[in-house]
Amino acid sequence: MLFCDVLDRFCISYTFLSRSRCSAIITHLYEMATTTVSNFPTAMSRPNISSSQRFANVNPANFGGRFKVDSCHKLASVCHVASTQPFLTMTAAAVKYEKIRTNAMSVFSSENEVPGLPIDLKGKRAFIAGVADDNGYGWAIAKSLAAAGAEILLGTWVPALNIFESSLRRGKFDESRKLKDGSLMEIAKVYPLDAVYDNPEDVPEDVKANKRYAGASNWTVQEVAECVKKDFGNIDILVHSLANGPEVSKPLTETSRKGYLAALSASSYSYISLLKHFLPIMNRDGSAISLTYIASERIIPGYGGGMSSAKAALESDTRVLAFEAGRKKRVRVNTISAGPLGSRAAKAIGFIDMMIDYSFSNAPLQKELHAEEVGNTAAFLSSYLASGITGSVIYVDNGLNAMGVGVDSPIFKELDIPKEHH
Ligand SMILES: NC(=O)c1ccc[n+]([C@@H]2O[C@H](COP(=O)([O-])OP(=O)(O)OC[C@H]3O[C@@H](n4cnc5c(N)ncnc54)[C@H](O)[C@@H]3O)[C@@H](O)[C@H]2O)c1
Repeated sequence: MLFCDVLDRFCISYTFLSRSRCSAIITHLYEMATTTVSNFPTAMSRPNISSSQRFANVNPANFGGRFKVDSCHKLASVCHVASTQPFLTMTAAAVKYEKIRTNAMSVFSSENEVPGLPIDLKGKRAFIAGVADDNGYGWAIAKSLAAAGAEILLGTWVPALNIFESSLRRGKFDESRKLKDGSLMEIAKVYPLDAVYDNPEDVPEDVKANKRYAGASNWTVQEVAECVKKDFGNIDILVHSLANGPEVSKPLTETSRKGYLAALSASSYSYISLLKHFLPIMNRDGSAISLTYIASERIIPGYGGGMSSAKAALESDTRVLAFEAGRKKRVRVNTISAGPLGSRAAKAIGFIDMMIDYSFSNAPLQKELHAEEVGNTAAFLSSYLASGITGSVIYVDNGLNAMGVGVDSPIFKELDIPKEHH
């Protein structure tokens, strides 16, 4: 078949590509058609071969760096993500082969393309609300974002600010500031924040007079956004890693109206308020992330005081905010449903160790859940790798959310369920 015939057919099939682009692709594919199937996996794993590298970039199995191509069959199954044809037809019919490669290239041939599949947040700036020590998810997220190259700004609850800042200054967090490359996470600035108040007019007199707030200023959400704008201009990533429910230990039927509304104000509306005030200074294609918990959708006795309702609201708001922020600024809004972690806030609830044990005994993955795993997911969600993900609840909980029953129940003792012991 003549080159121009192939080009014509190709252009008809891929009307979204220009004729010159089709021509370039076909020339490239003819070159590739001389490569045998058995050679192809070798080419994929070789660095600095740009055309095959592009193809390798879309391979989800490469994500953890553990991928080993050991058969065409395996390769065919992973290719399926970006293909409409089985891999084994590739060498026989160049056009079918083109189709796979064209799809892959058309997605990833942007200026963001880099060798391998790293999370690269260099040049991005993140504001993380809800960090007051080095034990919680906010700190872990800050570290992962910093490891990926992002600049880190923190929002710290006013009553916890002094102790956090002095601990930072005295080097108390230096060990946990260490990143994988041995450097210390840099924190560009810590802002005092109370996410329960949107602007100074909202702050009641007793709070203004409270000595835990003395000495701090500009800590309402609107003021913090203004200060960040003045200091840094824009941000790319907004993280909401805070929650508070004054009656969390009370069952719902014993929760007061005041306690219930306080839980929603601090744990859900605070996210709306943050996004409302920060969206104007967020760069296009930015990312907003919050932290939720499975109690939003399943009964977790002990997670009371309206906190389960607050998490349900947070997840519902994530969808609506994704629409609004997506349409306004193409900002993506997601929430991570995290498994149990012995943070300061969780310890205050009182039964976190039981929840960690329960998770170990019942989750599909019987391992400790590291805060870093949540941090890395936040980094992924903040990166262009997640450019199509918004309005989602992403579970990082060793799979516990997928279980329909607790397998540590004596009812299952006769079943031969594989298990590890602590
Ligand atoms: N620890 C868990 O098991 C777990 C599980 C799933 C989800 N989460 C969620 O993760 C997020 C972070 O919590 P964590 O468990 O890492 O604990 P944490 O103690 O590290 O974080 C909670 C933070 O919220 C801050 N905060 C409370 N009220 C505030 C306010 N009005 N304004 C500003 N900051 C305020 C606290 O100072 C604290 O820094 C929360 O949304 C929590 O619900 C935690």
